[in-house]
Amino acid sequence: MKGILLAGGKGSRLSPLTQSVSKHLLPIYDKPMVYYPLSVLMLANIREVLIITTPEDQASYQKLLGNGSQWGIALEYATQPEPGGLAEAFTIGASFIGDSCACLILGDNLFWGQGFSQQLERAVQRVSTQGGATIFACRVKDPERFGVVAFNAERQVLSVTEKPQHPASDFAVAGLYFYDPKVVSIANTIAPSQRGEKEITSINQVYLNQAKLHVELLGRGFAWMDMGTHDSLFEASQFVESIQRRRGYKVACLEEIAWLNHWIDNAALTTQAERYAATEYGAYLRGLIDYGDRSSGV
Ligand code: TTP
Repeated sequence: MKGILLAGGKGSRLSPLTQSVSKHLLPIYDKPMVYYPLSVLMLANIREVLIITTPEDQASYQKLLGNGSQWGIALEYATQPEPGGLAEAFTIGASFIGDSCACLILGDNLFWGQGFSQQLERAVQRVSTQGGATIFACRVKDPERFGVVAFNAERQVLSVTEKPQHPASDFAVAGLYFYDPKVVSIANTIAPSQRGEKEITSINQVYLNQAKLHVELLGRGFAWMDMGTHDSLFEASQFVESIQRRRGYKVACLEEIAWLNHWIDNAALTTQAERYAATEYGAYLRGLIDYGDRSSGV
């Protein structure tokens, strides 16, 4: 399974914050936004990731994330000159994906909740062994703003619709998708929608037509946010601050996930802690070695 993190787009709703800085580099409390989706790919045990950015912003992402070896992962970079839609991730990433399965995550999505690692593992297993696609859905108050999925009591998907005027359910499709290798050829065939974008919903519709679209539900105790507006950016920061202060462990600490996955050893973690020596982040990393695994229950 390979991962694609889509961090292009205009970020126009966050203007003027995004006038000179990419949305996904803005701070969410103590980390850049892109750490949160990258942490999800790492929790899904995905170690090869393609970061897609605008051409102008690519160098900033390379400066921040490097080649990923500090976290025991391999990062590659590609550019999307214009925001032509989420499905372009698979045409831009075609050679990177090759004949692997692929997971796409949107660079402005935050996921946090009990049992998430198990759900990710299930999605990876299902798509790797049975093929097809797995999407994630979450009940929201304003489904018309999202891709909407309707399903029956057996959790069989009945429809997927992009920003419908009359939503068939209250379940929005979250920005996290798992596909078999056929996704590349499917992405090559879909036409742009009326708003001129190659929609991820069109890809999901193809899998649904073949009865190969599976949905995982993010339950009521689960937090899913897109961080694309001023209010949601602020809320996400407050959320992370609150969880970290109350619970004493960090959300989306990439060094911690790499260390718990045994992708980096104590020496490599210590090197990272020294890099941030003067900060609370560095102290937290040092504490992992001193006090051990704080993640049980994540
Ligand atoms: P959006 O929030 O739909 O778009 P945006 O980020 O450009 O923001 P705005 O609407 O304020 O102008 O995008 C969702 C995520 O997907 C976001 O992380 C950016 C990313 N994206 C791309 O990388 N390429 C694209 O072509 C599109 C449409 C989105």
